[in-house]
Amino acid sequence: MTQLTFPEGFLWGTATASYQIEGAANEDGRGPSIWDTFSATPGKTWRGQSGAVACDHYHRLDEDVALMASLGVDTYRFSIAWPRIQPDGSGPANPAGLDFYDRLVDKLVAAGIKPMPTLYHWDLPQSLEDRGGWPARETAERFGEYAAIVGARLSDRVHTWWTLNEPWCAAYLGYGNGHHAPGRTEPAAALAAVHHLNLGHGLAVQALRAAGADQVSIVLNPTHCRGDEEAVRIVDGIANRVFFDPILRGEYPADVIERTRRHTDWSFVQDGDLAQINQPIDLLGVNYYSPSWFRMNPEEPESPVGPGTVGVEGWTPEGLEFTDMGWAIDATGLTDLLVRIHKDYGVATMVTENGAAYPTGPGADGEIDDVERVAYLRSHIAAVHDAIEAGADVRGYTAWSLMDNFEWAFGYDKRFGIVHVDYATQQRTPKASAKYYSKVIGANGLDR
Ligand code: FCB
Repeated sequence: MTQLTFPEGFLWGTATASYQIEGAANEDGRGPSIWDTFSATPGKTWRGQSGAVACDHYHRLDEDVALMASLGVDTYRFSIAWPRIQPDGSGPANPAGLDFYDRLVDKLVAAGIKPMPTLYHWDLPQSLEDRGGWPARETAERFGEYAAIVGARLSDRVHTWWTLNEPWCAAYLGYGNGHHAPGRTEPAAALAAVHHLNLGHGLAVQALRAAGADQVSIVLNPTHCRGDEEAVRIVDGIANRVFFDPILRGEYPADVIERTRRHTDWSFVQDGDLAQINQPIDLLGVNYYSPSWFRMNPEEPESPVGPGTVGVEGWTPEGLEFTDMGWAIDATGLTDLLVRIHKDYGVATMVTENGAAYPTGPGADGEIDDVERVAYLRSHIAAVHDAIEAGADVRGYTAWSLMDNFEWAFGYDKRFGIVHVDYATQQRTPKASAKYYSKVIGANGLDR
């Protein structure tokens, strides 16, 4: 066995998102979000489940912060619910909404845990969707104003901010294949959403900096593509470079614009937008679960999730193991992805999500022995170490997720937590993976 030790100051954390854990959907002036509407629409989520109660985190702040402190985490990545701050997505702040996150931040700081909020983890105020949603430019502008409000209140205690979580999902699952809220299936709108999410990010970075923020960034979920060179280049463009290039280089990739012409002429990109988007960021948040494989197949129609993917087919090689999501397990994809981002874009990174769904519940002795998740975490944390050895500047790792929660369209059917949640009693029980992770944190490393 080899002992792998991480650089000094490497941050270990856990991650969650507002709609997945908070509950209290109608309390203290919170307005409806697109996820409330989508979950209430028959057939959209597993058994019609919603985040209305979720893990009831809104009322269990103290317990949840104490739980993280007991694991020894350095940092907590959570998200702020825009509809708690501006119930209809514009105008003055709802004081009760701001107070909730103020309390959370205070408690984290008091527990020695660095707060790392994400401003947008998919719970768009429904009123903004009613006015067009992310395909409309107005949403980006409102997002910048919202960032200014939150930044002004929390920047004295928050040092690392994430603007958006996974704009790929917000654009392509929300407006492309409709698997996520708001459930629209319009390729042109999905591409307009890509641009307005990028623009919203740029406006939010500027608003946060003006409010005194230190480190500002965005969380992406780059598709780690394997397979034929041509197919990989196409998907990498539509899924990854369409975010990387405007954010980090101030341009849209020409091949993506070309391949998506049948849907749009990209006239939603106005003069000056790319300069607004291309703001310096301090590090890039990378979410990784699994690689994907692609090959050319002339018969293949366009995937609604990837406008411009005519002729590209996804496939999965033999001999792999899968998590409960059906996602292939391959930790080398995480190393390769981090090294690729370092080489192509030269930006520091943090793994802002990584983890696995398994259904393991309590055994007869009450213990939750989620051996598969322990193995997954071990191999993927080691893969991060490999990336650092290969030269990538990786600053931290936050496990998805602190606790089992509302897994979007999959409802409560999929459990990603290192802490088990009994939804009938809201009891939290650390699984074997939480104990394992806590040891890794304590040692700032692991045995391989
Ligand atoms: C990511 C999301 C996160 C969670 C994990 C499993 O795409 O950011 O909220 O659902 O997947």
